[in-house]
Amino acid sequence: MKKWWHNKVAYQIYPKSFCDTNADGIGDLKGIISKLDYLKDLGIDIIWLSPIYCSPMVDQGYDISDYYNIDPSFGTMDDMETLLEEAKKRNMYIIMDLVVNHCSDKHEWFKKALEDPDGEYGKYFYIREGKGDNPPCNWRSYFGGSVWEKIPNTNKYYFHSFAKEQPDLNWENPKVKEEIYKMINWWLDKGLAGFRIDAIINIKKDLSFQDFEADGEDGLCDISKMLNKAQGIGDMLKELKRETFDKYDAFTVGEVFNAKEGELGKFIGEDGYFSSIFDFDMEVLGQEQSNRWYLNKEFTTNELREVIFKSQLEALGIGFKANIIENNDEPRGVSRYIKAGECNDTSKKALAITEVMRRGIPFIYQGEEIGMTNNNLDSIDKFNDISTIENYDRAIKEGFSKEEALKLVNKFSRDNGRTPFQWNDSINAGFTEGTPWLGVNKNYKEINVESQLNDKNSVLSFHKELIKLRKSEEYSEAIVYGDFIPDLENYDNVISFYRKGKDKNLMVIINYQNKKQMIDFEEKYKMLINNYGYVEIDNNKLMLEPYQGIVVEIL
Ligand code: GLC
Ligand code: CA
Repeated sequence: MKKWWHNKVAYQIYPKSFCDTNADGIGDLKGIISKLDYLKDLGIDIIWLSPIYCSPMVDQGYDISDYYNIDPSFGTMDDMETLLEEAKKRNMYIIMDLVVNHCSDKHEWFKKALEDPDGEYGKYFYIREGKGDNPPCNWRSYFGGSVWEKIPNTNKYYFHSFAKEQPDLNWENPKVKEEIYKMINWWLDKGLAGFRIDAIINIKKDLSFQDFEADGEDGLCDISKMLNKAQGIGDMLKELKRETFDKYDAFTVGEVFNAKEGELGKFIGEDGYFSSIFDFDMEVLGQEQSNRWYLNKEFTTNELREVIFKSQLEALGIGFKANIIENNDEPRGVSRYIKAGECNDTSKKALAITEVMRRGIPFIYQGEEIGMTNNNLDSIDKFNDISTIENYDRAIKEGFSKEEALKLVNKFSRDNGRTPFQWNDSINAGFTEGTPWLGVNKNYKEINVESQLNDKNSVLSFHKELIKLRKSEEYSEAIVYGDFIPDLENYDNVISFYRKGKDKNLMVIINYQNKKQMIDFEEKYKMLINNYGYVEIDNNKLMLEPYQGIVVEIL
């Protein structure tokens, strides 16, 4: 059945770094409102806001202390209402981040739980007795260290999958679920179109809280071992959907890393728990699961192609994945998927083709459309992200030198994607008239919106062209609903596939390497997208330039 969101293009805003209107160095809702026309012009329909609820910002808003209010650093509820209205006027949709695996340790519920761990609010969290002088079990949290934190003056511990300031909410307690459903519906009543759902796969724990074999020097084991064992997430997610999203025809996209083999249909099929889930296969390529950056590995273009194809094929006939090349937790896509030294406007455009032409919902992350890159900082003190600092310390504990640890951090830090948005070449890239909360990337004079807006050869204009094609009356059916058929797999470093719809058959060919490549090509075609001004074709041979990417209609 067709859904309202199938043919939409989404965009993730990281509010803190998007646009600051009151010179406090922090992006705000008024800033977002002022850029709606820019996003509309880019072709965006759905905007996902990373968390803007009240928060002590230990994990940049993913630690919520009040779900019913806007953090004053971002603005007011009036601003939020204005944003919803202004978006609606432009036929755009706003979705918020739904962070309900955990809240902040400053949330009322948790404060009350600490006062009386055995009381009503203690049951809102997972609180367990220690084993002698040790925590209840040996699981490692995502940000390092034990998942257990001791409650002062007791031998009790509370559970946190992420930082200790992010206590996990107890989804086994019907009262907690009721509170969460009520809050979700309250927001949907306000006119939100849906949610991006944070860390949701963590809500179901294996309640035996048993030790697993240690997998690191710290004597702990990755929390994912437990998640693989936990049973019953499906029932929880079904109920969540029934009590909330279903009633509003809301669009939901789950942050799901470990859907088990063969279970995709349960997540995003016709009656799936969510409308969509992110496709993280490109992101996890080469990455070590428990977020230990020093264990990450390099990968080849052929490997990249393989994961893209596999993931695309898996979703055919089942549902729509949400396609990303970066987000608020990942380094910049152009710095990760293009070899250092080969990163330029041409290769950036080649990568953009994979983002927009895949089957699924494209989610562009702020700055991706202008080709923003990783930052390169000379000191760990210039980073802000909690997991970056933890990873740096952990690398040093494991024997890396400071220089090596800094190199790792520069490559993988979540702050790479969180630097202020580059609007123009004036001071602080036009992001703020004050002092930005996180330093602006030094390359803002070369890479910024203003310089690209009126340049028809810019990375920004190329994104617009791709999105326009995706939404065009002629080709939209093929690009949104069409089949995905891999091709040219016998050529190294060439990413090629068909998007075959009812009437139109499109072919994508990307020479994803820094040298020319000849390809046998006998088709009659019409050129639709090309990141070079020309294509050399002679005697059924296509001579592709380095990083040349084309989209053609096969006639
Ligand atoms: C998600 C967010 C990330 C956050 C984590 C904990 O992965 O994207 O930024 O740290 O959840 O809420
Ligand atoms: Ca501000």
